[in-house]
Amino acid sequence: MKILALHGINLNMFGKRDPKQYGTTTLAEIDAQLQALGRELGVDVECFQTNIEGEMAGRIHRAHAEGVDAVVINAGAWTHYSWGLRDALAILACPIVEVHMSNVHAREPFRHVSVFSEIVRGQICGFGVDSYLLGLRAAVSAARAARAN
Ligand code: DQA
Repeated sequence: MKILALHGINLNMFGKRDPKQYGTTTLAEIDAQLQALGRELGVDVECFQTNIEGEMAGRIHRAHAEGVDAVVINAGAWTHYSWGLRDALAILACPIVEVHMSNVHAREPFRHVSVFSEIVRGQICGFGVDSYLLGLRAAVSAARAARAN
């Protein structure tokens, strides 16, 4: 089973960026934790980050071609306005779990909206790196349930 973890715009700056909101863990450390949990759960986790929206759309299109079993996505600020990425994600038939390090609902009003809400299985936010790890657990469990049906 293959799970794709997607990180969007500015998330390569985790560890250096606004530690009050995002802590001090780097993206490489988050990816290492996701891969370690993936091994524990018996799934393959591939991580991908880009700051270019078209590259993210292209990676999602490839995920469709590859038939990945689930996607965990933190699209960063794209979450709040990218209808293009929403449409790309909507092409996928597999479960999609949206994650955020910070509690977006306790921050500025523009962060309260996710254009992905209608097409994701659920959103996990506010738990720092644990948002990703909980998101991976949710994605694996949803993918296993989908396989069983
Ligand atoms: C974020 C929240 C977004 O509002 C913000 O633009 C980010 C990070 C988070 O992980 O908390 O870049 O997705």
